[in-house]
Amino acid sequence: MENILSPSLLAADFGKAAQQLKEIEAVGTQYIHLDVMDGMFVPNISFGIPVIQSLRKDTDMIFDVHLMIVEPERYIEAFRKAGADIINFHVEATKNPKEVLSKIKQTGAKTGITIKPKTPVCEIVPYLKDVDMVLVMTVEPGFGGQKFMAEQMQKVEELAKIRKQEGLLFDIEVDGGVDLTNVEKVLQAGANVIVAGSAVFGAEDIAKRAKEFLKILQEKKT
Ligand code: DX5
Ligand code: ZN
Repeated sequence: MENILSPSLLAADFGKAAQQLKEIEAVGTQYIHLDVMDGMFVPNISFGIPVIQSLRKDTDMIFDVHLMIVEPERYIEAFRKAGADIINFHVEATKNPKEVLSKIKQTGAKTGITIKPKTPVCEIVPYLKDVDMVLVMTVEPGFGGQKFMAEQMQKVEELAKIRKQEGLLFDIEVDGGVDLTNVEKVLQAGANVIVAGSAVFGAEDIAKRAKEFLKILQEKKT
């Protein structure tokens, strides 16, 4: 499976977002992770549809949208129209994950299902054959710059095992507190899409930092 870097825009300088996106794209970054927060599902508000729509003009990177909003089924089409390529929603945020998945599929976007640190893998097992991606949170969602929860790697291992047993092909993405010191452990556990917010956009030279991540991701290719 291809290892992919998905830097989280949440840690970028929003006033220079377009320029910063171009910088990381130029060194080969494939995805940009877009954290949408509604102040209800998580105790923070970030950005939404118009910002994503505006950024779409500035880059060809894959838009990996992480919805931290209640009842995501209400806004799937709008996010797709704004430019989302992958739409991740939280299983805890909806009464009907199957409906959300079919709405995402109808738009032609890739489907992603996300679990918070306290949510066990068994909660999403019924949906695994219908998803392109599973996102395992390694911090409580809501804020960048938190400490990586290493014990969540058990869930990544469990998902990688199920994927193999069932002959499925979904990507496993890890989000929260990933940096150059722990990224290898994350890959080793079986994840192949790596979110890094402050570790990329907090660096003095963001292009250089993205390159450092990309080098590790390439070397550890399985
Ligand atoms: C947290 C977000 C993360 C966050 C990651 O709710 O989902 O994507 O921006 O930031 P870092 O890498 O700084 O933990
Ligand atoms: Zn995220």
